[in-house]
Amino acid sequence: MSGRDDDSDYVLDGRPMMNIEPDSDYDEVTSQYDECYASGSDATGTLFSEVTNYKFEHGRRYHAYAEGLYWGPNDDKQNTQLEIFHHIFLMILEGKLFLSPIEQPKHVLDLGTGTGIWAIEMADQFPEAQILGNDLSPVQPTWIPANCAFEVDDFTRPWTHPPNTFDLIYARGLYGCVGDWPQLLGEAYAALKPGGWFESVEVATAFSSEATADKQLLEGSLVKKWCELAVEGSHRAGQPLDVAGKVGGHLRRSGFQNVHDRVFKIPYGPWPKKEQMKLIGKMMMVNVLEGFEGFSLAIFTRVLGMTSDEAKEFNEQVLKELRDQRMNLWVKMVVSYGQKPLDADSPSDQDSAYHSGFGSLRTAASSTDLSSPP
Ligand SMILES: C[S@@+](CC[C@H](N)C(=O)[O-])C[C@H]1O[C@@H](n2cnc3c(N)ncnc32)[C@H](O)[C@@H]1O
Repeated sequence: MSGRDDDSDYVLDGRPMMNIEPDSDYDEVTSQYDECYASGSDATGTLFSEVTNYKFEHGRRYHAYAEGLYWGPNDDKQNTQLEIFHHIFLMILEGKLFLSPIEQPKHVLDLGTGTGIWAIEMADQFPEAQILGNDLSPVQPTWIPANCAFEVDDFTRPWTHPPNTFDLIYARGLYGCVGDWPQLLGEAYAALKPGGWFESVEVATAFSSEATADKQLLEGSLVKKWCELAVEGSHRAGQPLDVAGKVGGHLRRSGFQNVHDRVFKIPYGPWPKKEQMKLIGKMMMVNVLEGFEGFSLAIFTRVLGMTSDEAKEFNEQVLKELRDQRMNLWVKMVVSYGQKPLDADSPSDQDSAYHSGFGSLRTAASSTDLSSPP
């Protein structure tokens, strides 16, 4: 001890640690230790079952933590779809896991990690880095690289990560997951190191067609109607699906610099000539067929008020139309990435007016580490 009369000489990472005042009631504290020892495993078990007490609806399984927040199922069918999509993303990006110009990231956060496949591959590719993935659902594997970890967390709530921590924050497929992008990017900005990067990958919720002059689907197309309804439902729910192409603007307005928007086409079906694109098109078909019901069921029933049978029947009709090979369909994929300025010292540097959700009504931050479930 240095003889100072506060505890601020315990410094972690350049910041003084919080002073914790001890309870002077020795007997009370002893009995609480005993209670904790007695109930410790129960308490962990309760926490674990709270996040795995999944909800079942119309034959699909949904997350339990922050129940109802996210539209997608977390069952094997949907998780298979996420893994197929991961391979499509990698093929489109020629094997690159990210486009931000970072050589050797040390600390990486993957928001809404899903099956964790991106985080695990990052951990393999950068053995010196620590990769953390968070999600509402603890569906990630337990056999993972030592430098990878997963936690159950709701990224729309205030974050608990210390400021200036990450070199890269990655967010792929967060369509329909975010009601307040400025708020999310405010948290990300604070948690990034100066010079760190935020990278988003989003896919349009509308199909385009090579077979029409304006690339739009024809009026009366059920596929078009399906996409419009899904987007409308997501807006009504307050978490829009149509974010592809909008994240770059949010990044710029949130104080990020060197923002890039890279736009790619993902073909649907084997119609492209080039072998690689043909393969991607076939995989995209499998991806859509596997994920189609899961994409829409919750939005169509919970928000738009369809019955489960109506939603499934509508999906069937849309799938029939999707098999029409003459449409030469594709979807837009947008990768947007931007950098926290190198001279940014603290979160207070940000344009606070834009970060509207900062200090929102939700106050209790929560994160549950499930890397070692009971
Ligand atoms: C479309 S999936 C994308 C998964 C993964 N990023 C990928 O590209 O494979 C969206 C993921 O975000 C998660 N998610 C949605 N809202 C969330 C929230 N508020 N906090 C944490 N995760 C969330 C979902 O559980 C789901 O796994």
